[in-house]
Amino acid sequence: MAQIHLEERETRLARLPTQLYIEVTNHCNSLCVSCPLTYDHFLPFEPKHHLSWENFCRIVDQLPEIHRAVLHGIGEPLLNRNLPRFVAHLKERGAHVLFNTNGVLLDQARGDALVEAGLDELRVSLDAVTPELYARLRGIDALPRVVDNLRAFVQRHGGRERPRVSLWLVGMQENLHQLPDFVRLGAELGVPEVYLQRLVYFGDGHRIAEDATMVPEQSLFGALAEQQAALILACEALANELGLTFRASGAATPHESVAACGRGPSCTSRPTATPCPAASPPSPRPTIPASSWATSSSSPWPRFGTAPATRPCGKPSSARTRPPGPANIAA
Ligand SMILES: C[S@@+](CC[C@H](N)C(=O)[O-])C[C@H]1O[C@@H](n2cnc3c(N)ncnc32)[C@H](O)[C@@H]1O
Ligand code: SF4
Repeated sequence: MAQIHLEERETRLARLPTQLYIEVTNHCNSLCVSCPLTYDHFLPFEPKHHLSWENFCRIVDQLPEIHRAVLHGIGEPLLNRNLPRFVAHLKERGAHVLFNTNGVLLDQARGDALVEAGLDELRVSLDAVTPELYARLRGIDALPRVVDNLRAFVQRHGGRERPRVSLWLVGMQENLHQLPDFVRLGAELGVPEVYLQRLVYFGDGHRIAEDATMVPEQSLFGALAEQQAALILACEALANELGLTFRASGAATPHESVAACGRGPSCTSRPTATPCPAASPPSPRPTIPASSWATSSSSPWPRFGTAPATRPCGKPSSARTRPPGPANIAA
């Protein structure tokens, strides 16, 4: 990974960032049809890697005040065996720490290590409640395993706080009908929150592969039929009845999020140069044999505190002398 020196960047900020998003890996053991990673969308600009302890320290040491840290980017965080250590270090620094995961590798050892490290939120992405639709949308046949992992985790650790567990569903035309059962699954598992997430597409919205769903027409914005809108509203009521919170990312209610005020579907891209999706023809989705998504090449995880000692993180950069005057640091 390239070394990042925030002080050397040209843009200057009035104050250092307090919210940190760190991609701890860009490897994954799933093949979600909505996700650019499945199509190697960011290669060759971003070679595959797991974030090392040393590079993690280089990043966080430059930020004296971190209020909230999100430890996923595009990749599966549980594949990085340093994850509990990252969490513990950020907790020592007083941050609220969370990440999204597909939950495939959430076994007892990993769950215990994360709890011991002080994780605040664990967000588990499902997108479907039937094994068939899950396999279609997430690319591997792992729903029973993920649900078993979740059930065991909630039984062992509670799931209401430290960490607060939530279920996540990216709203697509293909899965919206499963929303009521998604809310019911959350209630059955005993998680306090379920989330409806807005589909984001990349680049100019061209289909980057035959079965990719990260395209505007899969989004619920333009095509939010009356029936779908009613379904979302009904699920808000259902969640209320079942004692769950039903939220949406980036909006007050799930209905507001996906119906959003006449705006189009969300489009985003990475801050790095990304290849134009239209430039290359759609490619077939690859497959991952179950033997490799079910295990991590870096497993077993060390229990937190027993990780092999490498260099400890240094003091945050507030301890370093910065030139006086206003903004001198960039993000
Ligand atoms: C990129 S994943 C990384 C973390 C982890 N691998 C996971 O799936 O939770 C982060 C979140 O983005 C969601 N996601 C995937 N494709 C998306 C898309 N096109 N638009 C919006 N969210 C998406 C995933 O379901 C997940 O909740
Ligand atoms: S599990 Fe997460 S990172 Fe992996 S392909 Fe699915 S959405 Fe992308």
